Amino acid sequence: MTSLFDRLECPRCAAGKPDTALLCDCGSPLLARYRTGRVPDAFRREELVRRQPTLWRYAEMLPGVPPITLGEGFTPLLPARRLGAELGLASLYIKDEAVNPTGSFKARGMAVAVSVAAARGVRVAAAPSAGNAGAALAAYGAHAGMEVHLFLPETTPRPFVLEAQRYGARVRLVPGSIADCGRAMREALGPAGRDGGWFDFSTLREPFRVEGKKTMGYEIAEQMEFNLPDVIVYPTGGGTGLIGMWKAFDEMEALGWIGPARPRMISVQASGCAPIVRAFEAGRDTAAAWQDPVTVASGLRVPTSLGDRLMLQAIRASGGAAVAVTDREMIEAAGRVGSREGIDACPEGGAALAAVRRLAQAGVLKADETIVIFNTGTGLKYST
Ligand SMILES: Cc1ncc(COP(=O)(O)O)c(C=O)c1O
Ligand SMILES: [Zn+2]
Repeated sequence: MTSLFDRLECPRCAAGKPDTALLCDCGSPLLARYRTGRVPDAFRREELVRRQPTLWRYAEMLPGVPPITLGEGFTPLLPARRLGAELGLASLYIKDEAVNPTGSFKARGMAVAVSVAAARGVRVAAAPSAGNAGAALAAYGAHAGMEVHLFLPETTPRPFVLEAQRYGARVRLVPGSIADCGRAMREALGPAGRDGGWFDFSTLREPFRVEGKKTMGYEIAEQMEFNLPDVIVYPTGGGTGLIGMWKAFDEMEALGWIGPARPRMISVQASGCAPIVRAFEAGRDTAAAWQDPVTVASGLRVPTSLGDRLMLQAIRASGGAAVAVTDREMIEAAGRVGSREGIDACPEGGAALAAVRRLAQAGVLKADETIVIFNTGTGLKYST
């Protein structure tokens, strides 16, 4: 399985960049591009069924490095019949990311990003995190023999901190949000260096976490026999998953696996931290930082993202929407995911269901549409 990776490119100004580049000079995240012109026979979509049940089954469309893997990806896409019936929706599915190593979809991004960094000789890893990304970096970093430094908001639920420490990470708790954690990280560690220094795994600063996250789009397509759903509802913080899935659809079209139809992408945020929803409603191309972000969904407590422009573009191009739900709604909805379907949802997963309820009531979702919501992580870590 040879990677078809070609180059890094800026989606905003189209500049080509060296494989080790981070952000573009124009400030945009860089994206990986692949040679999809001549697809090897072994990578036809009918061949996938023979491959390992991890995200590395799509190795041709991932960077060509030895995988640092804990078995991430290829999570179940479960029909949510009882929840669907309650909401009058015939085809509601839950993509359950809680079964990933470290209990969340963050494992996907970190598996790929750490694999690339390890291949380049990185020994020291660091990131600010709302919790799940930090735990994932700690685990994959440990597996790769790296020293890992995490900067988490002091409000992060205790189980995230203890988990990262069990993987051997050094955890610093910082007052404020993930944005303050980023500042604290740069202050504590000094400038990130490529050779012998530390490597910055912050969301969208390096291009390969998106590559890991995009595999959610590949999996949904494969699990639905390459008929994409009508709607995807995704709890959004930094937005790598949304950006990644949108990219995956274009890649799969270039590979000849799907046609031009796309799902409507619905971004869900918390009413106490909804920068993308606010920008979407105001018709803006970028999102201003949210002041004083507050929500129990720690993964959604992200006041500003380097991917704001890319997210807003994808949501609009898909004919989708951005929706804010209250903490109360998401907790109640997470409880219903558990009691109706037997899936232990995190508040972020609950937020996705709460948004579906709102949109179904508003008539934005039709009874016969196929809808996929994400449970992005386990509910276990939110217990105190
Ligand atoms: C459980 C959970 N859901 C959703 C998110 C938001 O994900 P993204 O940064 O890809 O938008 C996070 C981020 O920390 C998370 O931990
Ligand atoms: Zn650029």
